[in-house]
Amino acid sequence: MEGMIGVGKKVFQLAKVEDNRAVNPGVFQLILHSPDVAAEALPGQFVMLGLSGLNRDPLLKRPYSIAGAEKGTGKVRIIYRVVGRGTEGLSHKQPGEMLEIIGPLGHGFDIAGKKTLLVGGGMGLAPLLFAAQTICPGSLEVLAGGRSKNEMFWQDLFQSSCNKIHITTDDGTFGACGTCVDILPQIARGGEFDSILTCGPLPMLRGVAAYAIEHNIPCQVSLEQHMACGFGACLTCTCATKNGGNAQVCKHGPVFKAGEVDLC
Ligand code: FES
Repeated sequence: MEGMIGVGKKVFQLAKVEDNRAVNPGVFQLILHSPDVAAEALPGQFVMLGLSGLNRDPLLKRPYSIAGAEKGTGKVRIIYRVVGRGTEGLSHKQPGEMLEIIGPLGHGFDIAGKKTLLVGGGMGLAPLLFAAQTICPGSLEVLAGGRSKNEMFWQDLFQSSCNKIHITTDDGTFGACGTCVDILPQIARGGEFDSILTCGPLPMLRGVAAYAIEHNIPCQVSLEQHMACGFGACLTCTCATKNGGNAQVCKHGPVFKAGEVDLC
């Protein structure tokens, strides 16, 4: 394709905005037309996205989890919360405008489990949505957590791709009252899950990983980390591994086996 630079199977090119709209206050769903990224993307991988043009502000690209990809249509789905200048600028992009994209990047989830439990909190549910769509119609349940009912728009997004969705909210305004970690034993006990995939805030990852290790359930954690380059060149995203070494989340992750990385 003209104007495309390939780095291995990664693609650096322009992607056209097909749709970009709020799905909840402060949360947007962006649909990009990027056939080369859509063709290679695996659940758990991410892309670096940036505004295009010489006067772009901010200058640097930022990482976004891939929330869905369709090889047939070339569509790539991103769900993001507006938290700073980069995402604010992104939220104003209109259909037909172009963005710079690099991806798909990183290592994704191993989705070979026979019965999978997805555990996600907040925006950590975005990569799990892609995992659910890929595993479906295989057997999977979702445990989704948020602070309050007004954050749980995720239920509608997951509904068609899982056997069952369990909701928790910190304030008890929707679903069970408490965190995913509070509810996990009761969900997992009767579930006979042979795989847990999780993404979200660090305390949640710690709790889910500890439960999985204690109960011998294979578990993969996806880390959300600040990144500058996205492919192992700048070391911004370095995290500690359990064996005393270091790993780059962008290159060696963002998905790791539970127990492989230090979740402090
Ligand atoms: Fe540059 Fe990971 S973001 S090494």
